[in-house]
Amino acid sequence: MPVLNSNKKLLKVLNGEVSSPPPFWFMRQAGRYMPEYRALREKAGSFLNLCFNPEYAAEVTLQPIRAFDMDAAILFADILLIPAALGVDLKFETGEGPVLGKFSPDELNFDESKLAPVYETLKILKRELPKDKTLIGFAGSPWTVATYMVEGGSSKNFAKVKRMAICEPEYFAQLIDVIVDSTIKYLSSQIKAGAEVVQLFDSWAGELSEEEFEKWVTKPTAKITSALKKLHPEIKIIGFPRRAHFSLIEYANISAVDAVSLDSTSRLDWAFENMKCVIQGNLDPAILFSDKDCIKREATKILNTAKGKPFIFNLGHGILPETPVENVKYLSELIRNFK
Ligand code: CP3
Repeated sequence: MPVLNSNKKLLKVLNGEVSSPPPFWFMRQAGRYMPEYRALREKAGSFLNLCFNPEYAAEVTLQPIRAFDMDAAILFADILLIPAALGVDLKFETGEGPVLGKFSPDELNFDESKLAPVYETLKILKRELPKDKTLIGFAGSPWTVATYMVEGGSSKNFAKVKRMAICEPEYFAQLIDVIVDSTIKYLSSQIKAGAEVVQLFDSWAGELSEEEFEKWVTKPTAKITSALKKLHPEIKIIGFPRRAHFSLIEYANISAVDAVSLDSTSRLDWAFENMKCVIQGNLDPAILFSDKDCIKREATKILNTAKGKPFIFNLGHGILPETPVENVKYLSELIRNFK
C-alpha cells in the first residue's frame, strides 16, 4: 500500500503532512512505571528473557497502546542486543544496569540467528496492532552502542571510549564499521518483519566535539540511512542525536534522516526555523513527575509552537521508571484533545 494513502497519522506526518492534533508516542513507553510490565517481567525472570520471548515482548509492546492509545508502538527490545549478537557477553544486573564483557573488534562476528526472536515479535505485532497504529523498530546508533561496549556498561565520563575514538581513530573505526554493518542487517530484517519506521537512539551523541561528532555520529548514521533506503525505499527513519545542539542542522542534512527527535534542551521554535526535516519531541520526562497544571502548561507550549508544522509529539528522553501512570494518561488525553 502506498504510504501516502495510509490512514496512519504518524506515517502521514513523516511524509511531510501536517496533522492537528499531532500524532504522539513516548520513548521507553513500555517499562517499569507500568504495573502490567512489572508483572510480566517478573514472570519472564529477567529483562533479557523478556526481550527474547516473542509472545511476552509483543505483549509488553502493546501494554502502553491499550492503556494510553498512542499513535505508534515501539518494538520491545534493547539497543544492547546488537553487542550480544556480536558475541559480547551481556548481563543486566539489578540496580547496576548493563554489564558487557571484554572483546576485540577483529573477533566480533555478527550472528543474526540470535536476533530471530526479535523479528518474531515484530511479526506478531504486525498482526495484532490496530490498523491505525504505526509499528516502530529501532537500534542504537553506532556511537552510543560503542560507548557501552568499550566502557563495559553505563558510564559517567566516557573516558575509555573517548580516548579510543580520539587517540586511536583507526582502531575505533573498525569497531564502528562492525556496528554499522550489523545495524544495517538488523534494521533491514526488522523492516522485512513489519517495522514501518525505524528510530536510531543516540543517547550519548552530545558527548563529542563537533569534529568528532561528524566522524562518529553523522557519517555512520548516513551510511545506515543510505543503505536502508536503497533496500527499502519506503522506509522512514527517525534519528535521536541527544544533546547535539551545534551539530543538529548538519546531522539532519548529511544523515538524511526523515525526522529528528529533539531532546528537551533544544528549542523547538529554533528547530522549526532551521531544520528541513520533520521534528519529533521534546517534553522533558521530568515534567511527568509534576502536577496536571504544570504538565498542561508545558505540553500546551509545545503543541502551540508546533501548530501548522509536520510534528510528532514525544518526550525529550525516555519515560523514567518512577513516573506516575496517571500523568502519562493525562498527557496522552491532553495531546489527543488539543485543538
Ligand atoms: O521504548 C520502548 O518502550 C522500547 C524498549 C526500549 C528499551 N530500551 C527497554 C528497556 C528501548 C527503545 C530502549 C533503548 C535503550 N536501551 C537506550 C536508548 C534510549 C535511552 O534511554 O537513552 C539505551 C541507552 C539502552 C540501554 C539500556 N537498557 C540501559 C542503560 C538499561 C539499564 C537502565 C535502565 O533503565 O534500567 C537498559 C534496560 C532496559 N531497556 C529496561 C527497559 C524496559 C529496564 C529493564 C528492566 O525491566 O529491569
